[in-house]
Amino acid sequence: MKTHRIAVVPGDGVGPEVVAEGLRVLRAAAGRFGFAVELTEFPHGTEHWLATGEVLPDEVLERIAAHDAILLGAVGDPRAPVGELERGIIGRLRWDLDLYVNLRPVELMDERFCPLKGKGPDDVDFVVVRENTEDAYVTSPEFHDRNSPQEVAVQPMRYTRRGTERIVRYAFELARTRPGKRLTLVDKANAIRAQDLWTRVFAEVGEEYPDVERDHLYVDAACVRMVEAPESFDTVVTTNLFGDVLTDLGAALQGGMGMAASANLHPGRLGLFESVHGSFPQAAGKDLANPIATILAVAMMLDWLGEGAAGAAVREAVRTALTAGPIRSLELGAHGTREIGEAVLDALAGQVTAG
Ligand code: IPM
Ligand code: MN
Repeated sequence: MKTHRIAVVPGDGVGPEVVAEGLRVLRAAAGRFGFAVELTEFPHGTEHWLATGEVLPDEVLERIAAHDAILLGAVGDPRAPVGELERGIIGRLRWDLDLYVNLRPVELMDERFCPLKGKGPDDVDFVVVRENTEDAYVTSPEFHDRNSPQEVAVQPMRYTRRGTERIVRYAFELARTRPGKRLTLVDKANAIRAQDLWTRVFAEVGEEYPDVERDHLYVDAACVRMVEAPESFDTVVTTNLFGDVLTDLGAALQGGMGMAASANLHPGRLGLFESVHGSFPQAAGKDLANPIATILAVAMMLDWLGEGAAGAAVREAVRTALTAGPIRSLELGAHGTREIGEAVLDALAGQVTAG
């Protein structure tokens, strides 16, 4: 039997609760599809930092990287300085392991979860390819004349040709496999002229993909179009920062932050799977958080591990739980974390009985 070795980092806030549901679904899928999972849990996060002063030592980063895949809950807690653990854990995993693709599907499962009038699953079905290793995320902040009236704060947006080219190429390859065969570049090259690099790389690489229709939007216009005409998107490629912002808007279109999953990939090497949402510390331990984002991240992980049938079954089980199953509402508190996990597990088990 094939064994997949998974590093699990539950992290902060609601992370451990949603990861627990993700793992229940993962184990059920393994039993059903005939593969094994070997899980190694890493305690890193704010509690661990408070207790030991350790964020993520190099040696631990290396051990995590030696797995077939990584499942991450969430990181962030008001007891730690702003950004310290987010950058020290999520950031380092993305940047130091060179997981340059942040794949964020925006897929609406049922019309009643969409905040837009009259839009259904056929209208909200696209994928955002977010660059994951460059931009203002990885340059150093500088504060000159701190706390004086002359203070100047600087953190440059920095793009390399190599970094831009590999993500744009990945996006063209992905767009080629999708029914729409349409790739939209989202940037702000009219104001941020450094992004002219993206304009040029997109045109150059695009020459190699005559079968993919090329489209371009400035990020402000992209926000409008995502709300007014989400059906006009198929595959989107964008910078790290704009990808962060756009995919929270995308999550809202899917039914909220509890519904959006993501994969951080270095193709051919390593994948880290997580929800798009944060640690939501106010809800921690209250059985309130929606675990579907993490369950859908598990489905993406199964695809990555070569267990595509299991990944598809998990996605189908989520769809069933939401449309034909007991989940009536995604309002906070309408259903508990465990209850939603249970509904997905029931739907997964029901697929066997049904067919
Ligand atoms: C995300 C998160 C992170 C990001 C934070 C936690 C640093 O918002 O994964 O979208 O900005 O990338
Ligand atoms: Mn974000």
